[in-house]
This record gives sequence, structure tokens and C-alpha cells, in this order.
Amino acid sequence: MTTPLVIIGAGGLAREFHDVVEAVNAVEEAAGRPAAFRFLGFVDPQPSVESRVLSRGPVLGGDEILANLDSATQYIIAISNTSVRGKLDEVASSLGLHATILIHPAATVGRHDNVFGPGTVICANATVTTNVNFGRHVHVDRNVAVGHDTTFENYVSVFPGANVAGNVHAQVGVTLGTGSSVIQGIRIGANSIIGAGAVVVRDIEANVTAVGSPARAIVR
Ligand SMILES: CC(C)(COP(=O)(O)OP(=O)(O)OC[C@H]1O[C@@H](n2cnc3c(N)ncnc32)[C@H](O)[C@@H]1OP(=O)(O)O)[C@@H](O)C(=O)NCCC(=O)NCCS
Repeated sequence: MTTPLVIIGAGGLAREFHDVVEAVNAVEEAAGRPAAFRFLGFVDPQPSVESRVLSRGPVLGGDEILANLDSATQYIIAISNTSVRGKLDEVASSLGLHATILIHPAATVGRHDNVFGPGTVICANATVTTNVNFGRHVHVDRNVAVGHDTTFENYVSVFPGANVAGNVHAQVGVTLGTGSSVIQGIRIGANSIIGAGAVVVRDIEANVTAVGSPARAIVR
């Protein structure tokens, strides 16, 4: 079955997620099956005139167009900011739309007991091992590694190249910066941001930004 799909957002991340959509479709078509997705376009309040976006599909309009979509249409949200992503998810899901799960064919995802919430996106060359539990709209970017028994609550973003060991628990809205490392068993509180390249060796409280090795909250 081919699922109609919109991408909410029209920036660089939206173009990257569109690449994932195309890669998934290419695998299906190469195997003689129908494409997984029929891409309808981007949802963004500021119609972009950039050819690099428009060459991939139209900008359909802002959030208000979500109400006009057929209920068979699914969505992903290509917005890095975790709280904005949460708000847009509320809008789309309250209209009865369903989020899709998007996994790049070049990602390595274990076959045993992984749970991915609606809207999860796993990009190329990411590795997710086993018994992980992801909430809604978790983004695992390219070259990220996620170890066993890790939990990412809703709207967690893991930026390129982050390395997350086993039994890590990131609460709702956490962002793990590019190239950050998190050792086993760490708990990161809601909405906290781990800076690029940080090494997290102790639990991090909620609503802080932590940087460095070992990662410590920035005092503002
Ligand atoms: C941690 C981060 C969120 C802080 O951003 P910010 O709140 O705007 O903070 P500032 O840039 O004002 O920096 C505050 C201080 O922290 C330092 N700092 C910022 N990011 C740092 C990092 N990743 N590692 C070490 N120190 C860092 C700054 O040098 C500055 O120090 P100073 O006060 O001594 O000058 C941001 O720098 C970061 O690393 N974001 C991750 C981005 C990312 O991974 N993007 C990938 C997108 S695909």
C-alpha cells in the first residue's frame, strides 16, 4: 500500500527527511513492490521560493492545511526544536492524522524488541541495537549509535554522530548535540540540551544546557 505523506517543515532537515522517503521508496520499487510513500509536499507557513525545496515538492501552506488532508495522509515533522515539534504534533494528531515511522534503508536496526513511536525518524548509517523504547517523533540523525535498553521519551532529538550507550534514559524533549557521548545508565531530565561533543558521565537534571567533558550544566 502506498501512503500519502506530508513533511511538516521546509528547511534543511525537511530536505534530509525527504531523502529518507526517497530511499525507502527506491528499495520498495527495486524489489518490484509499490512505493511506500506518495509525497504530497511540505507544510510550512512561509512558502519557500528556494528551488532546492520546490524541486522536491510543493509547499502546501501552513498548519491550517492539515485540516484539509485526507485522513489516510500521514506526516512526519522535520523541525529540530523539540517543543515546537511537540506543539505541531498536537495540532496534527488532534485532527486525526497519523504520523509515520521512517527508517532509512542504510540504518542498522536490530530485529528484536525495539519499540518506535509514531513519527520516529532514523537516518542513514544510524545504528539502533535492541530493546530500545522510543516515544513519539524521536529523531535519530545520521551516524548516531543507540545502545540496548535505551529509552527516548517523546520528541527527543539526537544530532549527527552522537553515541548513546546502553540503558540511557532521555526524558521528553531532550536534545543530544552532534558528536556527544552518553555513557551507560545515564538519565537526562526533560528538555535538557547536551552540547556538541559533550561527554555525559553523570545524570543531567531537567531544563539545563550541559557542555564539555565531563558534561556540566552552563550556569547563566
Ligand atoms: C550547547 C549549545 C546548545 C549552547 O548554545 P547557547 O545556549 O547558544 O550557548 P552559547 O553559544 O552562548 O555558549 C555558552 C558558553 O558555552 C560554551 N559552549 C557552547 N557550546 C559548547 C560546546 N558544545 N562545548 C563546549 N562549550 C560550549 C561557549 O563557548 C560559551 O562559553 P563562554 O561563556 O565561556 O564563552 C550549543 O553550543 C550546542 O553545542 N548545540 C548543539 C548543536 C548541534 O549539535 N547541532 C547539530 C544540528 S544537525
